[in-house]
Amino acid sequence: MGALSVLERMRGLREDRGAPAGVRAPQAATDDADGPFALSVRNLRTVYELGHATVQAVREVSFDLRPTERLGVVGESGSGKSALALSILGLIEPPGRVGGGEVLLNGRNIVGLSERQLSSIRGREIALILQDPMSALDPVKTIGAQLHEAIAVHNPQLRRSALRRRAAELLREVDIPQAERRLDDYPHQYSGGMRQRVAIAMAIANNPSVLIADEPTTALDVTTQAQVLGLLDRLVDEHRAAVILITHNLGIVSEFCDSVSVMYAGRLVESSSCEHIFLGATHPYSEALLRCVPNPERLAEGPLPAIPGFPPDLSALPGGCTFAPRCSVGRELAVCHEQTPVPELVEGPSGSAIVECHFARERAARGSR
Ligand SMILES: Nc1ncnc2c1ncn2[C@@H]1O[C@H](COP(=O)(O)OP(=O)(O)O)[C@@H](O)[C@H]1O
Ligand SMILES: [Mg+2]
Repeated sequence: MGALSVLERMRGLREDRGAPAGVRAPQAATDDADGPFALSVRNLRTVYELGHATVQAVREVSFDLRPTERLGVVGESGSGKSALALSILGLIEPPGRVGGGEVLLNGRNIVGLSERQLSSIRGREIALILQDPMSALDPVKTIGAQLHEAIAVHNPQLRRSALRRRAAELLREVDIPQAERRLDDYPHQYSGGMRQRVAIAMAIANNPSVLIADEPTTALDVTTQAQVLGLLDRLVDEHRAAVILITHNLGIVSEFCDSVSVMYAGRLVESSSCEHIFLGATHPYSEALLRCVPNPERLAEGPLPAIPGFPPDLSALPGGCTFAPRCSVGRELAVCHEQTPVPELVEGPSGSAIVECHFARERAARGSR
């Protein structure tokens, strides 16, 4: 997924899915004129209590996801992307906890449900694919046995022979050759790419309406990455699932997603259609992230710029805008260091965006690049 893909996608962004919901202003509704949302997250807050410090990993995050929409969540390492994913699925473990907010899945709030209630929802309504496929696989059980379990949890009526048929079908669906025979292999007999395919097969086994993929291709080599992403693309379409794709790779977002949210220090600081971000990001942080994408048209300009400074310590956040100390616009400005920007719905030349920046309006109006 190099820069060329980004540029190609800038010219041919998906237009067949309607307006992405990510650009909508936070509100309490679970639907709008275009129909119900598959997922609505409202003021979600997650902390890790470390004794000496409280890490604010997810800070009052709100967004909506439409059925079949694909939302990319991007941001530097440590910005809270995985914590957001785990919080949505009810998988945050001590010393972490969800400290507030709602996760409305097909209209029903699942925050605070018992582990038993959640396990009947996970896999069937919402599923997770992680960076390391081994976290979804048990090394001492055959692939077939693990697929049987994933299917049987939500289909207890199925007999063994039917389970095996469905498991083989799933392996074929994710392009594992000789599926029938390979059901009896153990995970170590599969390559990394094949293991991630199996993890994807397990995630889609029960047709969830929402799929969260947290850096699903980061551990794979580039060729395998493209194959796995292609597979995910096809399956998500076939199963008509909505997707949250977490990645630090903007090229992947431009390839795969309709909308994008940029995460910084536990907040979504800019949410819009991909078209808006790639043609003229409004938030100075989104703009800086985009400048770090290799661009063959700019090779002559010299080495890639890096964003100066480091993300803030989430247990000792600065006042005002958390990006201000690194910001090309607000580094020297009192307002940026003293006042916390609120999410604002702005109109730019290539669409609307929700942006948390004191200068969002001016920047959107002129297009930042
Ligand atoms: N199990 C944990 N214990 C303590 N802190 C954690 C734990 N998991 C994540 N964190 C903290 O939460 C913040 C967000 O982490 P994470 O969601 O993993 O970021 P990302 O996925 O964007 O790289 C980081 O400051 C990280 O140190
Ligand atoms: Mg992560």
